[in-house]
Amino acid sequence: MLQRVYDWIDERLDITPMWRDIADHEVPEHVNPAHHFSAFVYCFGGLTFFITVIQILSGMFLTMYYVPDIVNAYESVRYLQSEVAFGMIVRGMHHWGASLVIVMMFLHTLRVFFTGAYKKPRELNWVVGVLIFFTMLALGFTGYLLPWDMKAYFATVVGLEIAEAVPFVGELAATLLAGGEIIGAQTLTRFFAIHVFFLPGALLGLMAAHFIMIRRQGISGPL
Ligand code: HEM
Repeated sequence: MLQRVYDWIDERLDITPMWRDIADHEVPEHVNPAHHFSAFVYCFGGLTFFITVIQILSGMFLTMYYVPDIVNAYESVRYLQSEVAFGMIVRGMHHWGASLVIVMMFLHTLRVFFTGAYKKPRELNWVVGVLIFFTMLALGFTGYLLPWDMKAYFATVVGLEIAEAVPFVGELAATLLAGGEIIGAQTLTRFFAIHVFFLPGALLGLMAAHFIMIRRQGISGPL
């Protein structure tokens, strides 16, 4: 039965070469931990991707309950955390995943750096990686404000003060980010929109570029 469905689709869309291209791709020995244990460092990129997927999925579920306005934000998070079935687990995954993904991404960056994988012809992918790095940090920064408790508020005060300290453009950047002179209603809706639409959109595009380049260039050779 399944075979017939597959054949029906394949006859029309020729999908076999698409998945064969991925499934038949050989993994070189020097990146396979089954051959050399130390090759586990080559898994860091894939693990970063895995946690990123968890972040996206858990974040989608969080938005079902989260209310991005200053009167209801804190209560909506409290409600989700203590009343909703599995709410504590989903929020916990997003909370801890946010830190773990940064650690994993950093380890991946160290692997790329210390194996010299950023060198020709992979310079462009390193640059895309740096953009991903800043996108991830910005996701952490904007997400931190959303629970709208004291910790969230004052962390954002500090973050915006750091932005403000940048010469020439600092003040403008801080005002644009906060949506005004103070951290208030405008800041919360702005950070919410940036956190759930702008940055994830950018991240998906950047990750697609990252993976297409890896596929075209292949993984860098052994040391
Ligand atoms: C969401 C964040 C990221 C994800 C999901 C990701 C994913 C991956 C994956 C799956 C690979 C294949 C090899 C491996 O797993 O080590 C890879 C390779 C690579 N990544 Fe990343 N990466 C991310 C961030 C970065 C960052 C921050 C940099 C550098 C600043 C970077 C630079 C590179 C380069 C240059 C390669 C090619 C390495 C080679 O051919 O040996 N990536 N990435």
